[in-house]
Amino acid sequence: MRCRNCESKAQIYLRSFNLPLCKNHFIQRYIDTVKKTISKFKMFSENDKILVAVSGGKDSMALWYLLLKLGYKVTALYINLGIGNEKGESGYSNMSEKVVREFAKRMGADLIIENVLEKYGAPAPLLDRKRTPCSACGIAKRHIFNSIAMQRGYDVVATGHNLDDEVTALLGNILRWDESYLKSQYPVLHAEDGFAKKVKPLIFLTEKENLAFCMFEGIPFHHDECPFAQGATNITLKRIWAQIEDFMPGTKYRFFREFLKFKEKYFKLEEKKIQGKCKVCNQPTLAGDLCTFHRMIEKVKNKIITGEHFQQSY
Ligand code: AMP
Ligand code: FES
Ligand code: ZN
Repeated sequence: MRCRNCESKAQIYLRSFNLPLCKNHFIQRYIDTVKKTISKFKMFSENDKILVAVSGGKDSMALWYLLLKLGYKVTALYINLGIGNEKGESGYSNMSEKVVREFAKRMGADLIIENVLEKYGAPAPLLDRKRTPCSACGIAKRHIFNSIAMQRGYDVVATGHNLDDEVTALLGNILRWDESYLKSQYPVLHAEDGFAKKVKPLIFLTEKENLAFCMFEGIPFHHDECPFAQGATNITLKRIWAQIEDFMPGTKYRFFREFLKFKEKYFKLEEKKIQGKCKVCNQPTLAGDLCTFHRMIEKVKNKIITGEHFQQSY
């Protein structure tokens, strides 16, 4: 098969668009897609200080590399979530940290590292036993992204969420008719009192495209999945999407693009209903005098004092 744009042999076939491409034209298309997304949604400009949240996985490593290559002012933030740290260097979070540290050194890039286990006494997914591991971990990650951005004066936080993540979340939100998530699902969340601006520049690229970009550009990434595998619902929804895409190539992309148009027409992004400031971190709260994260941390502290948390964890 030949590349659609030149005579070279195609090295990738994007079935969703019936598009065979050589390496160079794939890379060009990938970069153009990210540039268009950044400009269409007014994500950031050359003068903005960007904090890119990097997990060590393919999506966020591709984003970090590309923003550096495009000359943006970027600092990476890696959160060591403490996952599998009892296994030392070969544990999941420590291995990801190694990939990220080595890449920062190679690129001469700025990197901030936060360590949840050292700072809060438990791995992020185990901070709250009443929640699923991914939900507790997500609260911790979002809190840390926001607090580092606010404390250190970044204009925007960029994450590596991809099209597969978004359509999976969207289908789940529609199946539950979850109004508040449907209202807040968007490529950009603007800054509000105490909340940093958040953007997702890879939102129109699939996992497969991010993987190919890393391979073609020689970007290293941590191949393992988090051992707290995503919940059963998400795995099922991803499987359903794979089947839909197989029967009707291009549906994922169109579904998401049309959702955004629909949303722009019918719903306005709602401002968060801020109630006050957290007495520990001073970030806005949506209820009471503690933010969601510190409410969770207060519970852990009590359990650590009684030893209950660790008896349950290990
Ligand atoms: P996930 O929630 O694991 O699907 O990750 C979504 C995005 O959040 C990634 O693409 C990263 O930008 C960011 N992220 C996830 N885990 C971390 C981490 N440990 N440190 C920094 N950023 C992260
Ligand atoms: Fe948070 Fe897996 S990365 S539970
Ligand atoms: Zn707080």
